[in-house]
Amino acid sequence: MSGKCTVLVALLLAAGGSAALAQNANKALLDESRTAANQIVSQVRSELMKELERTGPVRAITVCKYSVPEITSNISRQTGMRVTRVALRPRNRALGEPDVWEQRVLLDFENRVAKGEKADGLEYHEVVEEPAGRVFRYMKALPMVQPCLLCHGPSNQISEGVRTLLATEYPSDKAVEYNLGQVRGAVSVKKAF
Ligand code: HEC
Repeated sequence: MSGKCTVLVALLLAAGGSAALAQNANKALLDESRTAANQIVSQVRSELMKELERTGPVRAITVCKYSVPEITSNISRQTGMRVTRVALRPRNRALGEPDVWEQRVLLDFENRVAKGEKADGLEYHEVVEEPAGRVFRYMKALPMVQPCLLCHGPSNQISEGVRTLLATEYPSDKAVEYNLGQVRGAVSVKKAF
């Protein structure tokens, strides 16, 4: 083998090796993101269902307002990743407004559901170069299931008590008129690496 060729092979091997390393790193980040997303979904659901059964949807709004941000910030602290919930039509604009990348992914989720895919299980991940550095980003769709209708469904299915409280707590609420199976929003995970 000529000297030149050996160098080339060595370079190719090194490139292949670092690609494999990068892939392993991404796989680890993907696993961590999935775990964090599942944690949020199950913790929010159990809090919500507990309150819905105990006191009904009006009081459960308080759970969404106070417990969910606490759950997301606890999980962010524990995992070292920024974990949030976002939506194209958010109820809470301060917390739920998506950035440009998240908007693009949410639109893609909606298009995929419009073409017949199930919202449950839709996810996406990507390594993104941001001005502040390289980040791993992950999103998982949150589908509209039965209990969500109580507070995010068509207005004729939302009780008057819930409507009144939503109007006072969230005057710029856009998160109603969703039907079963639609994408209500997504969990979004982001980590610099
Ligand atoms: C008891 C009423 C209630 C129920 C039931 C409910 N939500 Fe919400 N949801 C809210 C409230 C209130 C907020 C705003 C929370 C806040 O202030 O951050 C919210 C916010 C959200 C957000 C964050 C983005 C945004 O719009 O601000 C997502 C995503 C979401 N809900 C999805 C769901 C899904 C999926 C279900 C069903 C599993 C569900 N919700 C059931 C009341 C409810």
